[in-house]
Amino acid sequence: MVDKQKKIWIDGEFIDWDEAKVHVLTHSLHYGLAAFDGMRAYQRSDGGTYVFRLGAHIERLLDTCKMCMIQPKFTREQLEQVCLETLRVNGMSDGYLRPMVFIGEGAMGIYVPQNPVHTAIIAWRWGAYLGDEALKNGIRAKIGSFARHHINVSLSKAKMNGQYTNSVLAKREAKLGGYDEAIMLDANGYVSEGSGENIFIVRRGVIYTPDLSCSILEGVTRDTVITLAREMGMTVVETRLTRDQLWLADEVFLTGTAAEITPVREVDNRAIGQGTVGPLTKQIQTRFFDVVRGSDASHPEWLTRV
Ligand SMILES: Cc1ncc(COP(=O)(O)O)c(C=O)c1O
Repeated sequence: MVDKQKKIWIDGEFIDWDEAKVHVLTHSLHYGLAAFDGMRAYQRSDGGTYVFRLGAHIERLLDTCKMCMIQPKFTREQLEQVCLETLRVNGMSDGYLRPMVFIGEGAMGIYVPQNPVHTAIIAWRWGAYLGDEALKNGIRAKIGSFARHHINVSLSKAKMNGQYTNSVLAKREAKLGGYDEAIMLDANGYVSEGSGENIFIVRRGVIYTPDLSCSILEGVTRDTVITLAREMGMTVVETRLTRDQLWLADEVFLTGTAAEITPVREVDNRAIGQGTVGPLTKQIQTRFFDVVRGSDASHPEWLTRV
C-alpha cells in the first residue's frame, strides 16, 4: 500500500488525501491521454531536503503536455513551487513527487476539446523501487514478449499515462515468470529500456546506452549518469544495442527516478559478468547517491531546497 500522506494538491488547493477523487467519466481514465512525471526529494547529509532535478522533471511534464496537445493551466514556476509546498504541507523530509495533468469529465468520446484540464501533485514516501536488496546485489531481468512502442505508434519521449499499459504488461509477465524486471526490445528488435527505467551496459570498460533516436524515454537519471560517468573519466557511447550485446556485457544497470541505479546481475538466465555488481556500476551508484543525498556538492544546479 502507498504510504498515505495528509494532503494532495489539485487545481490550486490542498485537499485531504482521502478526498482526492475524480469522476468515473474522467476522459483520461477512459482513453489514457494524460501527462505525468515523477521525482524524488532526498534529505542530504547537511540535514536539508532537496528535490533532485525539479526543473528537468517539470520541463518534461510540460513537454509531454505539448506533445499530447494538453493545455496546462499552470506555469513551470507555479508547478515547481507547488511541488515544494506539497512536501512542506505534508511535513516530508524525503519522498516521491508525482505531478499529473489530466483531462476531466464533460463530453464523452475521443475528441473532447472543451473538457477541463486538471492538475494534481501528490507526494508519498517511496523506498527503493525494486527493493534494498536489488540496489545492493542486483536483479534478475528478462527480455519480455512485449515490444516497446514503435516511435510512430506512440510518443516515446512523452511520459504519457496510457502508454504505460505497455510497461504494466511487460512487468507483469516478468514478475509472473519469476524475474524482478522486464527489459523491452523495440519494434525493430533493438534494446529499448526497462518497464520503468533506462538501461546501460558496460563492455571492456566502455559504457553504452541506447541513443535518443531509439524508442526510449529521455530519462533524467540517464542524463545524470552520463554526466557523472564522463566527469569520472569514463567513456559513454549512446548507440543502438542488440540483445546479444546485453548477454555479453560485463555489467548491466538500470536507471530511473524510482529505481535509482539498480545493477542487473542476470539477463535471460545468463549471468552478467561474474553475476555480481560490476566495478563501474558500483562507482556510478556510489557517486549518484553521494550527489542526491550525500555531501557531494558538485552539481548545485540539480538541487532545489524545500
Ligand atoms: C519507461 C521509462 N523509462 C525510463 C525512465 C527513467 O526516467 P527518469 O530517470 O527520468 O525517472 C522511466 C521513469 O520515469 C520510465 O518510466
